[in-house]
Amino acid sequence: MTSSKVLSGLDTAATVYESFNDRIKVLSTKGVVPGLCVVLVGEDPASQIYVRTKSKKLKSLGLVSETIRLDADVTEQKLLSIIEDLNANSKFHGILVQMPLPEHINSQNVINSINPAKDVDGFHPENVGWLSIGKPRFIPCTPKGIMRIFSHYNIDLTGKDIVVLGRSNIVGRPMSILVSSNNANGTCTVCHSRTKNINDYSRNADIIISAIGVPNFLTSEMVKEDSIIIDVGINRIDSDNEKGYKIVGDADYDSVFDKVSKITPVPGGVGPMTIAMLVENTIEAAENIQL
Ligand code: GUN
Repeated sequence: MTSSKVLSGLDTAATVYESFNDRIKVLSTKGVVPGLCVVLVGEDPASQIYVRTKSKKLKSLGLVSETIRLDADVTEQKLLSIIEDLNANSKFHGILVQMPLPEHINSQNVINSINPAKDVDGFHPENVGWLSIGKPRFIPCTPKGIMRIFSHYNIDLTGKDIVVLGRSNIVGRPMSILVSSNNANGTCTVCHSRTKNINDYSRNADIIISAIGVPNFLTSEMVKEDSIIIDVGINRIDSDNEKGYKIVGDADYDSVFDKVSKITPVPGGVGPMTIAMLVENTIEAAENIQL
């Protein structure tokens, strides 16, 4: 499957992890080991897998990673008091509350309660604000990882027409800010569930970044010849393999592959970069307290 068309998140992440070695060493000479605490509420199978993968990666690098698992019926008040304790716990430089949360919990209240200096997800309004005015502190991990894929493969966004599918606070919205920033200089259109005719936009895009979570949504008729596709989707579909399911992206990979100039695979594309950027943000949080 190695092809110059494939933008590998695994290869990009490998380069990024190498750059962490010196930073981790410098911190360790000061007696600091970067630490992350992940809070997982409920039993969502996909969230369980993400959280396990994140924790394994941090531990493999010798960093501190702990997970607090809470029942799906935990009260918002209890969750807020746990975060208050984590804000005060110097062992943890980063705090991540895995989304989505159960409906009875107001996610924004929870995000607002995290100390912005420990908000390695970059979801706190203060960090969203810094990003919006072009002076980012913590950048959300998935959009940050996608920008790193662009730079790793020397893809210049200047003047490119970029269509972002999806407007979530986790991916689509911050992605649109980054690609249209003064550093990247792309021209961005955000499409969403109320967009009248997505094809009209996607067919004219030089780059499509899809984060809508609909398996095989993006077909060959929806993309321009030689365009670039960044596929953020991690969708489970039934399969007759031994697991009973497989993971596919938002793009119908086989349908678009011949037409596009570059594409991120699923798995092995954006996913590994999200984790690499979480590690980077945790290291950054630890470095910041040294200043
Ligand atoms: N759920 C899906 N992606 C993410 C992420 O990057 N951070 C958190 N906290 N939850 C998520």
